[in-house]
Formats: sequence, C-alpha cells, structure tokens
Amino acid sequence: MTTFKSFVLTETEEGLTPAYQTLTTEDLSEGDVIVRVHYSSINYKDMLATQPHNKIIRQYPRIPGIDFSGTVIDSQHPRFQKGDQVLATGYDIGVAHDGGFSEVARVKGDWLVPLPDGLTLEEAMIIGTAGYTAALSVNALEQNGSTPEKGPILVRGASGGVGSMAIMMLQRRGYEIVASSGNKTYVDTLKMLGADQIISRIDDVTLKALHKTEWQGAIDPVGGASLAEVLKRVHPSGAVAVSGNASGATFDGSVFPFILRGVRLIGIDSVYTPMSDRQEIWHRLSTDLKPNHLHEMKHVVPFDKLPEAIEAFKEPTHHGRIVIDMSGSHK
Ligand SMILES: NC(=O)c1ccc[n+]([C@@H]2O[C@H](COP(=O)([O-])OP(=O)(O)OC[C@H]3O[C@@H](n4cnc5c(N)ncnc54)[C@H](OP(=O)(O)O)[C@@H]3O)[C@@H](O)[C@H]2O)c1
Repeated sequence: MTTFKSFVLTETEEGLTPAYQTLTTEDLSEGDVIVRVHYSSINYKDMLATQPHNKIIRQYPRIPGIDFSGTVIDSQHPRFQKGDQVLATGYDIGVAHDGGFSEVARVKGDWLVPLPDGLTLEEAMIIGTAGYTAALSVNALEQNGSTPEKGPILVRGASGGVGSMAIMMLQRRGYEIVASSGNKTYVDTLKMLGADQIISRIDDVTLKALHKTEWQGAIDPVGGASLAEVLKRVHPSGAVAVSGNASGATFDGSVFPFILRGVRLIGIDSVYTPMSDRQEIWHRLSTDLKPNHLHEMKHVVPFDKLPEAIEAFKEPTHHGRIVIDMSGSHK
C-alpha cells in the first residue's frame, strides 16, 4: 500500500503534540475522493488549531489544514475522475475531518470544487480560504448595491490574508480603497496592492450614536468592540461585511446606523457556502476578482518547514499569504 507524509496533531498527557507521520489512505477520515495534494496554505484558523487548548479541533489525532488544491487520484464520486484538478476549502476539512497538511487527502466529493480555468493549483492556494472569504465579502457588498462610483470602501486588517486579498480584488474592480492597518512596515505594499489611503487601526470606542459618514461599505475581518465605530461611519444604505474576530468577538452598538441610515451588517461564512455559490465565487476569482498582485503576496514554504511557517504566521509583522508546497519542489 502506498504511504505518504502527513502533519498530525495528537493529544497526549504532555499536551498537543504535532509530528510528521507516515500514513496510508486507510488512516485518513473517510471520503469518496482521494486527492494528491499539491498545495495548502496557512490561515488564521490553522494557526489557532495548532495551538494547545484550542477550541477548533475537538478530536485527535487530526491532520489540520483547512484548504488544499491537488489532483484526484481515485474517485467514487460521479462529479470527479482520476486526473481532475480540484480545490477545497471549509466544511469540516482540517477541523473535524483530516485536512490539507498531508501529501494525500481523502474527502467527500461534495466538498470539492473543480479548479476553474484561469487559475493554477498554486494560485488557488495563494487565494485560499482567506482570499475566498475576501471574495465573498466583495460579492456581498456588490449584492447590496456597491459600485465604484459610490465612494470609498474601508478594508480592516489590511495587512492580513482577508484584508490584503480584498484590497487587490477591489482595486481590480475600480474601487477607491481606505485600508486600516496597524502594520507600519506594510504601508508601501498596501499602496502597491491598490490602497488609496492608509489609516491606522480603528481602536477608539466613542459614545456618539453616529458619526459623519466616510465609506460606502466596509470589509471587516477584525470585528471586536470597534465594529460599532465602523457602523457609525457607513453611508446610508451601505453595508459592512464582517468575517472575522482578529481583535475580538463581541461589540456593543446601538440600532441607530440600522434604523436611521439603513446600514446593513452582513455576516460572511466561508465554511458552509452552498456549492453552487462556491463554484460561482471561484469562477469570479479566476476572472473579474482575480487579484492583480497574486504572486507578490505569496511566501512559498516546503511542507517539511510547516511548523516554522506556523510560527512565522503568529508574528505581528506577518503579512500576505503563506502557501505550503506539498511536493517540496519550488516552481
Ligand atoms: N468567516 C469566515 O469564514 C472566515 C474565513 C477566513 C478568516 N476568517 C477570520 O478572519 C480573521 C482574519 O483572518 P486572516 O486570515 O486575514 O488573518 P491574518 O492574516 O492573521 O490577518 C488578521 C489581521 O487583522 C489585524 N489585526 C490583528 N489583531 C488585531 C487587533 N487586535 N486589532 C485590530 N486589528 C488586528 C492585522 O492587520 P493590521 O496589522 O494590518 O491591522 C492582522 O494582519 C480571523 O478572525 C479569521 O478567523 C473568517
């Protein structure tokens, strides 16, 4: 039986123990499609999942990695055949089902997206869950009526995966972009990606019910108490697409932005997007949302350096997208 290398988290009396192990497909969670993984990536959730006492993974042993791209090597699923190029993000992958930090993955075919024309397997993982979430956010704002003529869009957490991908997508669509970032070393890169104005993090929480309006909408992977401040500055009928909690999970706001300005707060969930919407968004990511500076955002790391890459992701100076090359040979 063919063996392959996987990065496995095991819970022992000493705590959470990550280690490379040699496995066979029979060791993986069940599924009807087996994929030779070419690339995975490190997302915020992967960073959390690999830490002791995390609340992401409930059962061990588990292979983390919430996304991957690769080639089908065996399929019992009607939509997929050997040789198909595919990508996967979300569902239970890397959380309650073995994930992408493995040279081979076995998953449900219902979770797989055919690689769209116009994207390589590597590009699919430069985008990864973070870029897909950014695309869902841009899509949500446009479904709410955003167009470039209506004024600037605020992007929070601008140096992070979701934020920087959102900036590139908005720039490609012709929007004026205000990037909010606490990463002072990243100002020139944010400008290069397409930010028109860079402001510091929105940290202050004020007592005023509303402020002068500044943005037609906002993409917010940061959340926390300051989300209430963002809502107070959004144009009438604008929207905030909130996807994350990088600064906290709770906020304390009033109803006034909603009832006096018709502002909408739109939740973005990348994990359980229905497959038809998922395929549509990935199609857009290969066409009108394909980020312009994609390859300048990537830090490609070979699979055997995954633990070091996870440590690097935790650094405050981290930016862009860490792509894990499962073949070990850089392209
Ligand atoms: N809803 C979903 O399906 C979904 C999917 C993907 C990600 N997410 C969530 O989205 C969030 C961001 O993910 P990511 O992949 O972009 O992570 P990331 O690459 O680590 O970026 C997060 C960014 O948030 C900013 N930030 C961090 N701590 C902050 C704080 N205390 N106050 C204000 N800003 C802070 C930083 O940007 P600056 O230094 O530039 O300010 C940081 O780069 C996470 O909470 C993640 O779980 C959700």
